[in-house]
Amino acid sequence: MNAAALIAQFGSPLYVYDLDTVRARVRALKAAITWPRFQPLFAIKANPCPAVARAIIAEGFGIDAVSPGEVAMALRLGVRPDLIQYTENNMTDAEQAEAVAQGVMITVGSLDRLERLAAAGARECSVRFNPDVGDGAHEKICTAGPLTKFGVASAYVDRVLEIERRNQLKVVGCHMHIGSGFLDHNAFAQACEVIFNIAARLPNLRFIDCGGGIGIPYKPDQQPLDLTAMGAHLSREFAAFCQRYGRDLELRLEPGRFPVAEAGTLLTTVTSVKENPDGRVFVGCDSGFNHLIRPCMYGAWHRIANATRPQAPVRTVDVVGNICESGDIFARDRALPLPVLGDVLAIGDAGAYGMAMASTYNLRPLPAEVVLDGGAAHLGRRRQTVEELLNAWVW
Ligand code: LLP
Repeated sequence: MNAAALIAQFGSPLYVYDLDTVRARVRALKAAITWPRFQPLFAIKANPCPAVARAIIAEGFGIDAVSPGEVAMALRLGVRPDLIQYTENNMTDAEQAEAVAQGVMITVGSLDRLERLAAAGARECSVRFNPDVGDGAHEKICTAGPLTKFGVASAYVDRVLEIERRNQLKVVGCHMHIGSGFLDHNAFAQACEVIFNIAARLPNLRFIDCGGGIGIPYKPDQQPLDLTAMGAHLSREFAAFCQRYGRDLELRLEPGRFPVAEAGTLLTTVTSVKENPDGRVFVGCDSGFNHLIRPCMYGAWHRIANATRPQAPVRTVDVVGNICESGDIFARDRALPLPVLGDVLAIGDAGAYGMAMASTYNLRPLPAEVVLDGGAAHLGRRRQTVEELLNAWVW
């Protein structure tokens, strides 16, 4: 990737996604799961850029959606409705009606939603259970255990069965998602055990979805998750479960981060280098937490390279953005080849929950997205303009 050339062609700041990396991650995941009836889904919330999602869908993935907008995106990408799963949380009746009409599978996360879906005459659904064991890189992204809003309590399997008995609605899927960004699979394996025990009590299953959550090593001292070991363990336990259940079910996983995080880079241009009397150096750039909120929101660590001047003498600096808040910091006390004005910084591992969580705070437009495919660079999303931003208001 020639960062300067991309910036010259498409402007700054810029998200860049490398589809070869996306395909490599997707294929590694498929290879790790040896259970033959494996149906992966892409949690499109991580990166809805159509060219990126298309590369994943082309590898046989369905889509995990969490909103009508994500369902619409999946349908427009040509994904078959039966390969779209709508994992709801606090959906409205109108949203439910739309999803039922679209023929997508709703994964309900509460007993009242299960009742409402049954009352609407739906014939099939999946139920998300809280397996009580959670995990994740930060408490904000741990989605199981007592403090989370997600899923039906594992103690309420009887109530699910009772609703199923009273209605035409069959629970064909059993779902969990324990959290995001784990790098060892112990908690995941424990939660799978809980979910298989729940599933054993549901008579009409076609699939079990063990969720997403596979982390990536953001920091240099982190080891990647042992995907082969995780896949082998999961496949073995799933086979044992199916034997106990008496039927071979489909196994689903719905990763968001893993396929796309390492494929994405945020390119930003240095606009100021300020050295204070105490020696602290602020490297300011033309992006900020409006474009990549993970460092602020989760204390996340992202690699940063000086793409223009990799050989410059290394200094310890703070890399900061152009948003009017003190917390607008990409990295504190980071060793970086000292940039000069106009240098391009490459913020790595930004392909998941980067642009997807970007905002227009300070009335700064969203950046453009560019997709690299086999050496060619294509525009994936046009840069937003200030005019487009202002036109959203009623004047
Ligand atoms: N399935 C469900 C129901 C989810 O809620 C999520 C993520 C996933 C799958 C995909 O999880 P993944 O494989 O990406 O870990 N913004 C945060 C991550 C939030 C994840 C929310 N749910 C971040 O930047 O780290």
